[in-house]
Order: sequence, then C-alpha cells, then structure tokens
Amino acid sequence: MNQDELKKQVAEAALEYVEAGTIIGVGTGSTANMFIDALARIKGKIEGTVASSNASAERLKSHGIPVLDLNSVSELSVYIDGADETTKHLHLIKGGGGALTREKIVAACSRKFVCIADQSKLVDVLGAFPLPIEVIPMARSYVARQLVKLGGAPELRTGFTTDNGNVILDVHNLDILDPVKMETEIGLITGVVTVGLFARRPADVLLLGTPDGVQTLS
Ligand code: A5P
Repeated sequence: MNQDELKKQVAEAALEYVEAGTIIGVGTGSTANMFIDALARIKGKIEGTVASSNASAERLKSHGIPVLDLNSVSELSVYIDGADETTKHLHLIKGGGGALTREKIVAACSRKFVCIADQSKLVDVLGAFPLPIEVIPMARSYVARQLVKLGGAPELRTGFTTDNGNVILDVHNLDILDPVKMETEIGLITGVVTVGLFARRPADVLLLGTPDGVQTLS
C-alpha cells in the first residue's frame, strides 16, 4: 500500500465517528481532503460542518456539504483532521498546511478529536517536523529571537500568509520531550498567535493507517 492508500483507509474509517444529525468539525490537508470526499457520500446524515480553513470550506461546498460559521454553533460532536507528527500519547504537531489556528479553535469546540494519519506520522519524540508557529507580522523578529533562546532555529515560511493574515515561523532543531510545557512556554511569547503543538488538548482517538489495516489508539 502506498501512502495515499493508507491515508484513504483512515479517511474512510473516520466516517464511523460521524454521528447522525450533528455538526462536525473538518480539518485541513491531504488526509482531511480524502475524508471530505468520503463524507460527501453520507452528507445527508449530518446537519453541517465547520471548516478549519478556507480551502476545506471550498472543498466541502463543492460537494454540496453545508459549511457553518463557528459562532452560530454551540458544540461540535467530533473534529476530524490529520497531523504532521503524532506520538502514541496523541500529542501532535500540526500546521504544515498553515491552518493551525483555526484547527486549534475547531478542536477546542469539539467533544471528540479524531486524528487520521498514515503510519509515517508516528514518532517517539516530536520535533523532526519543523514546528509551525503563527505570528503577528510586526512581532516576527522578536518572536524569532525568543525561539532561538529556547534552542530552536526559526525560519520564516516565505510567500505564505495564513487565513488570518499572519505569518508562519517553522522552527527546526527542537526535541520536544515535554510537549505540554513547550506549548505553554511558546504560547506565552508576545506576538505568538498559535503554536502548532496539540498537547494541552491532544487528540482523543488516533486512526493510524498501516499495511495491516487501521490501528486505533486512544
Ligand atoms: C494543516 O495545517 C495541518 O495541520 C495538516 O493537518 C497536516 O499538515 C496534515 O496534512 P496531510 O494530511 O496532508 O499530511
């Protein structure tokens, strides 16, 4: 099985977590796109969706799936999204696609967070994938200097602006041994909008695509 087939397998498996008559959160990225395409087959089952990016909203709408404003919704039954890295404790790095802030907001509003990923995303220690951090543009240099003090090597994602009008610093060289502590520490730097660590609110379920089938970790 190639990587796309593993992603498709978990995208299909995630349909089981879609509760009838509810509003669900939908993530961003290639695995989430496969979930959106699968969701189209059962779109009559749900009341609607909240998307974590403009790109996902457009894809949902192209399938005729209703996309709602989060402010008009009190709770989402489930949030389904991919990840760039995950540990077996379901701590994640996200934001490779730059949608981390809306992803974290939608995850926060959801009763359950189901992460869908192929087996290449499972790591012992987070940090080989550069940690994305969304930053207010005028604070870019200040935040970068603080990240260097924490041992990181921040790099501006060139030619990229988030859906919220901000920039992304991708931080290399971090061995993230305590993800909760690092998420808190970086989140407190003035000018940081969102850290792409999902550890304070980790995933609740991980559907991991392997050649032997979908493994469920929780
Ligand atoms: C988007 O900002 C990210 O958090 C994605 O969830 C992540 O990059 C996973 O993407 P793929 O499913 O394309 O690997």
